[in-house]
Amino acid sequence: MKVLIVGGGGREHAIAWKVAKSPKVEKLYCAPGNAGIAQVAECVNIGVMDFEKLTAFAKEKDIDLTIVAPDDPLAAGAVDAFEEAGFRAFGPRKNAAILEGSKAFSKDLMKKYGIPTAAYETFDSADEALAYLETADMPIVLKADGLALGKGVLICNTLEEARAGVRTLMLDKQFGSAGNRIVVEEFMTGREVSVLSFVDGKNIKIMTSAQDHKRAKDGDQGLNTGGMGTFSPSPFYTEEIDAFCREHIYQPTVDAMRAEGREFKGVIFFGLMLTKKGPKVLEYNARFGDPETQVVLPRMKNDLVEVFEACIDGTLDRISLEFEDNAVVCVVLASEGYPEHYEKGYVISGLERFEAADGYYVFHAGSKLDEEGRIVTNGGRVLGVTAVGGNLKEARANAYQAAEWVEFGNKYMRHDIGKAIEDL
Ligand code: AMP
Ligand code: GLY
Repeated sequence: MKVLIVGGGGREHAIAWKVAKSPKVEKLYCAPGNAGIAQVAECVNIGVMDFEKLTAFAKEKDIDLTIVAPDDPLAAGAVDAFEEAGFRAFGPRKNAAILEGSKAFSKDLMKKYGIPTAAYETFDSADEALAYLETADMPIVLKADGLALGKGVLICNTLEEARAGVRTLMLDKQFGSAGNRIVVEEFMTGREVSVLSFVDGKNIKIMTSAQDHKRAKDGDQGLNTGGMGTFSPSPFYTEEIDAFCREHIYQPTVDAMRAEGREFKGVIFFGLMLTKKGPKVLEYNARFGDPETQVVLPRMKNDLVEVFEACIDGTLDRISLEFEDNAVVCVVLASEGYPEHYEKGYVISGLERFEAADGYYVFHAGSKLDEEGRIVTNGGRVLGVTAVGGNLKEARANAYQAAEWVEFGNKYMRHDIGKAIEDL
């Protein structure tokens, strides 16, 4: 088969690495890819939102399967575009990607179908939102309705902060039209867990659990980022919690989307908060997580291409997902200053050490080849250094050891990825 992956970050590198292992794949392309992905796929310089060029490329190369990984093209209808051009594509269509693309939609869906989530109100007018805040309990959470690179969520401890937040989102439009409508939500406390799943429209198969570290600095300080590191599995995601989620969250979400005429095929990422009153949905994503994918796929035993095809064909009930009984930790090596201002273009050294090291992976997030053919930094998140271990403690030690193998200018990382599990 000829396969095309759309995207170019760490998540896509992990997907490409896993897809390349499938005996079904004879040729793998990635648009636009990055310097790491180029080691397992042929990268083509087409942007993820350029559907015309992407489908023309699929025609030219006679692509059998396209995997659309990032949220923006999914929400804008990339899968629909491929299907209309006569190609098979993995991912939700536009009418289903709204599960992530609109927080108001997903909150209303959960309310209508009794799926546990934080209490909320939706506002289209800043005045009404401000009036509501006067009577609300603090802390409170404000969320831009639309996609905002994972940054449109404000946790406000005081009324003053909440008022300022409404102005930032709705009047100053810091996230553009994503803030035309906001969701104001009850603040929940508990442990967060990420659960990824495959969905074929009707059936859902749950992958192993993971936990992200979203803040930039140690001790969960600093700004929210795309994710500074992950581990899998989460020891807090017990069998009892899993059973509850299967009954009250996972299958009900898939059934709700079908009932709404928005059949979902692809990956649903459940962002869960394990509260004292049971698990609740923080958010849905309509795609693989980044950097959750980097710790989940190395543990997966199945042929990923077979699973993608089963999702498209509606035959996921015939697949049994299997994961290794081990643990994986991913430490993100970022550029100092991320997620705000940072420099790019520094040469990365030490990558060759990963080639011979079994159970160690370096997934590239922001890298490129410069004119002299050297691999240089090209983003805020640069690499996801990932290591396997017999248990989380071992995987964590291995990942931090390997994080020292690599050097580049302004290298920055958190030192406490997975530390919570050592305190258990
Ligand atoms: P989201 O993009 O909705 O997952 O929000 C980003 C992050 O904000 C989450 O990972 C949580 O850490 C936090 N968050 C979102 N909603 C809530 C909530 N209702 N209560 C507490 N924290 C929240
Ligand atoms: N790691 C969180 C996300 O992919 O949205």
